Amino acid sequence: MENQHDLELLALRTAQNILVFTGAGMSADSGIPTFRDALTGLWERFDAQQLATPEAFRRDPPLVWGWYEWRRGKALHAAPNAGHLAIAAWQHLVAQLTVVTQNVDDLHERAGSSRVIHLHGSLHQPRCFDCGHPFEQQGIPDEPEGGRRLPPPLCGHCGGPIRPGVVWFGEMLPPEALAAAEAAVRSCDVMIVVGTSGLVFPAARLPMIALQLKKPVIVVDPQPPTEALEKALWLKGRASELLPAMVGALKPR
Ligand code: APR
Repeated sequence: MENQHDLELLALRTAQNILVFTGAGMSADSGIPTFRDALTGLWERFDAQQLATPEAFRRDPPLVWGWYEWRRGKALHAAPNAGHLAIAAWQHLVAQLTVVTQNVDDLHERAGSSRVIHLHGSLHQPRCFDCGHPFEQQGIPDEPEGGRRLPPPLCGHCGGPIRPGVVWFGEMLPPEALAAAEAAVRSCDVMIVVGTSGLVFPAARLPMIALQLKKPVIVVDPQPPTEALEKALWLKGRASELLPAMVGALKPR
């Protein structure tokens, strides 16, 4: 064995407890715009801080709700890509596979992954901004391509505005999801990090914890990982191409 990353490659072959940690790049090949790419049309002149914060919603609910309905429509029209499907197939080859995602779409679930932890909430679980009561959302939004302002529906319990069920900048991550994700890091044999820039905390700490625990970490991304992950094995490429190849190589012949 000459490769300096023999450990990660060996771990990939023998691991029975796999953690897959995903970000926007995972869904990019399904045509779901990343955060930055989603700032087009009506939203071109805004930055994420003006749209993805409680202050932004308080200031201008139709602007923020319209943006999320446009994104929810895009997510519902998208289909899982070959990378999502490969991860779902992988869970049948090992004793345990956990997906921890920063994505607010449900493409992992629709691909068939059964254990998915959402660190940043979901586009599909809106709730009341004032009382927190869940809101039953009907149908698929049919938003114009450039987007539009849309007043949020009102809560049937308290009359407050309905907000998207995502974690906004400045908000806490759901504590149970974060605790479950950290437990998954501690118990995994190998961690695979797919399509995340590693810039948004606390999620970005998870692969760092894995490295501190001396776990093998493999990064799947066309771009190199941040310096904090320089000890990880970087597999350069797209999720929809590399993940099926990885799982294909593991399948019993
Ligand atoms: N396959 C794999 N990775 C890809 C692909 C692809 N096809 N296309 C792009 N990427 C990579 C990019 O190189 C980048 O490293 O995906 C990463 C996307 O980074 P970000 O857009 O910063 O997404 P993410 O890390 O998920 O952002 C974290 O920040 O925007 C907020 O709350 C939002 O959950 C999000 C969080």
